[in-house]
Amino acid sequence: MTSTLFSPFELNSTLTLQNRILMAPLTRCMADENLVPTEQMAQYYARRADTGLIISEATIIRPDGQGYPNTPGLFNQAQVDGWKKVTTAVHNAGGKIFAQLWHVGRVAHPHFFGEGEVLSASNIGIEGTVPRMRDLYFQTPKAASVDEIAQLTADYAQAAKNAIEAGFDGVEIHGANGYLIDQFLHYASNDRRDQYGGTPENMSRFALEVVDAVVAAIGSDRVALRLSPGAYFLMEGSNDDRAVFDYLLRALNSRDLAFVHIGIFDDSMTFDYLDGRASDYVRANYTGVLVGVGGYTAETGTQAIEENRFDLVAVGRPMIANPDYINRIRNGEPLKEYEESMLKELV
Ligand SMILES: Cc1cc2nc3c(=O)[nH]c(=O)nc-3n(C[C@H](O)[C@H](O)[C@H](O)COP(=O)(O)O)c2cc1C
Repeated sequence: MTSTLFSPFELNSTLTLQNRILMAPLTRCMADENLVPTEQMAQYYARRADTGLIISEATIIRPDGQGYPNTPGLFNQAQVDGWKKVTTAVHNAGGKIFAQLWHVGRVAHPHFFGEGEVLSASNIGIEGTVPRMRDLYFQTPKAASVDEIAQLTADYAQAAKNAIEAGFDGVEIHGANGYLIDQFLHYASNDRRDQYGGTPENMSRFALEVVDAVVAAIGSDRVALRLSPGAYFLMEGSNDDRAVFDYLLRALNSRDLAFVHIGIFDDSMTFDYLDGRASDYVRANYTGVLVGVGGYTAETGTQAIEENRFDLVAVGRPMIANPDYINRIRNGEPLKEYEESMLKELV
């Protein structure tokens, strides 16, 4: 029944995946105090090397992109060397792995990086406390200047080069889930009046500049992008957002990326302004390879691929609970149920 999932998939002339199941990016907060990946992380990823492609946990491109404790980085040599151990272990076990490049924007907190400003598209903050850190309240961000935006773009490109040096097969730019790039793409977080705001073209500009800089650095075959047209996390949606994503997806159609990946926790969610599910909206407007995610089982993922709703399926929480997820699915064995308490340990 799930044989569709186990057919190899040619992403492009550079990359062929051994099956259609991706390990979704999963933040685990287990890097060391210098944000260097550990040996334990190498073993954790290597155990899952039989997935078609692993997307690493979100990995910060520079210090002020950090909003969670012990999230790994890709901005200095020690971090590159730490990741080399991870990518070598995954490759030795027959797998492929992309690095997810991350800057959290207004979700950042100086608690993690010392002095310095919290940057976003605009000076619009969010309510509440920093995830996984009680008593640490979100700060009102500063709207990044045009020069600061250019530096951020350059830093994404440098992190992509560092990822290749660290042995990754490619990168997924994290443009989803309410973080920095997403903050430019929604009206609730972007009220700029310059070339980065006010119109769909302007609001898409930063995302496209990052994509183009990363593609120029490492080649489009090795670049993917995660997007959340449906605002659902750290973000309010607006009816006007749709025109931004209409514009962005049209512009991405000519970029030849490895894939676009939906950023969502539950793909049965619908959005009025997208006339339904985020994945169906992107499928209708984007012509390249699409990765679906969010509450899929092997059966429902197979069905969605066979119905041509997307091409590949990413699996998150079940991968945490089942390091041997692929074998269990292949053999029709029952899965262990995911529980939040499993986040305390890297199994
Ligand atoms: C503990 C945890 C950490 C996550 N970390 C990330 C992350 O670093 N980057 C990201 O884009 N999504 C992250 N997500 C979202 C997942 O990639 C995925 O979209 C979500 O879990 C839905 O898929 P699932 O139903 O198969 O778990 C995380 C989800 C969980 C549960």
